[in-house]
Amino acid sequence: MSADSGPKGGYTVSFDENDQVVRLAGVLRPAHAAALGPLVDCLTAAADAVRGRLYVNLKQLRHMSFAGHRVFTATLGRLLEAHPRMEITLVTSSVMPWANRRFAPFAARWPRLTVEQYDRAFYPGQGVIESDGLLPVLRAQTSVIWKHEKPLLERHGLRPGARVADICCGIGDFAMLVWRNFAPERLVAVDHHRPFLDYARTVARDFGADQIEYQVGDAASLLLPDAGFDFVTSRLALQIFDRPAEILAELKRICRPGGRVYVTNEMMGHIYAYPKDGPVTWAYRLIPEMAASLGMDVNFGPKARAYLEDVGFVDVKVDRLEVNNLNSDLSDFAAVAAGWRDYVVGEVATATGQAPETIERLRSALEDFLYVVENRRGFATWPIYVASGTRPS
Ligand SMILES: C[S@@+](CC[C@H](N)C(=O)[O-])C[C@H]1O[C@@H](n2cnc3c(N)ncnc32)[C@H](O)[C@@H]1O
Repeated sequence: MSADSGPKGGYTVSFDENDQVVRLAGVLRPAHAAALGPLVDCLTAAADAVRGRLYVNLKQLRHMSFAGHRVFTATLGRLLEAHPRMEITLVTSSVMPWANRRFAPFAARWPRLTVEQYDRAFYPGQGVIESDGLLPVLRAQTSVIWKHEKPLLERHGLRPGARVADICCGIGDFAMLVWRNFAPERLVAVDHHRPFLDYARTVARDFGADQIEYQVGDAASLLLPDAGFDFVTSRLALQIFDRPAEILAELKRICRPGGRVYVTNEMMGHIYAYPKDGPVTWAYRLIPEMAASLGMDVNFGPKARAYLEDVGFVDVKVDRLEVNNLNSDLSDFAAVAAGWRDYVVGEVATATGQAPETIERLRSALEDFLYVVENRRGFATWPIYVASGTRPS
């Protein structure tokens, strides 16, 4: 069931009986009462069909006017009265801060109605990733990677004038570089962590790139239209999710048929540093284990090909980008190594409850990595897998 209210956008509503969930998406801003008919009918039919709990998924509802809200809550109230054993959960997202505020008084009146912000703690490593401690790491990483990545972006199909979406954009450094080097027709950059976006917007303003559209969003449920982009990127991000295939499917949805989705991911288990290979290899065996306990796979890199093909991409390309201390700017690479040491010791090891002696050993091993990066006779390498695929027509 769907209702469309023209140029300002409309809403869609549907009921999935197996999951007992009504999905309401888009913009609920009815021009007249009749426009709400499909919503009321769908909720009523759902309440008749469910046993126990009805979920109303509002994750992709961008706006609800006061008139829409009045009819929506009145309908739910009427249905709760008519079905005294039914419970209702409204599933909202922190991406729409208005939703929780708006529904709180209503939920207080109805003990059988709850409001759940599904992304309050929606992936196990959220506290570690959405953290100020990651900011210097992200900045240093993009600086050292860019010169290697730019030609790969061209090889994987990024062209000037493309419509580009960068999902999980972090602090926006990459979006900024794409803006400057590829002059895209449109560039939308999405992240879930508001402070990263605040930083990104400030940088964009300072460098006169305020046409970059930064947006708060959830990569698993984007507020972007189907098939709206020629090139969709997501860098060093699939590896932080415990269900990467879902994210890839969403990237595919917003990519136009014939366009490409481009992802980069690490293979931390292959980070190597001679002559400190003993402690460094030990650390980069432990770090993927710690990450796994937070639901992340920092050895995801080589798996991207299979995932892209499983989600239905064709013409899949994979390259291994290597940052090492002979092919990269030494001070940038050293900043990455120092950032990893501080972030892993200060945040990841603590979040995963490592013993004090393990934390100390980690600190020393990551210090060794930094030593090798800066050592004229040493060799330190950090492999990243770059993969992309075309969405079939
Ligand atoms: C490892 S960082 C990579 C950032 C950036 N792509 C880069 O290469 O510098 C992962 C990013 O994903 C963001 N993120 C995590 N969960 C997200 C979600 N569900 N939707 C959108 N962004 C998310 C984090 O806030 C963080 O900025």
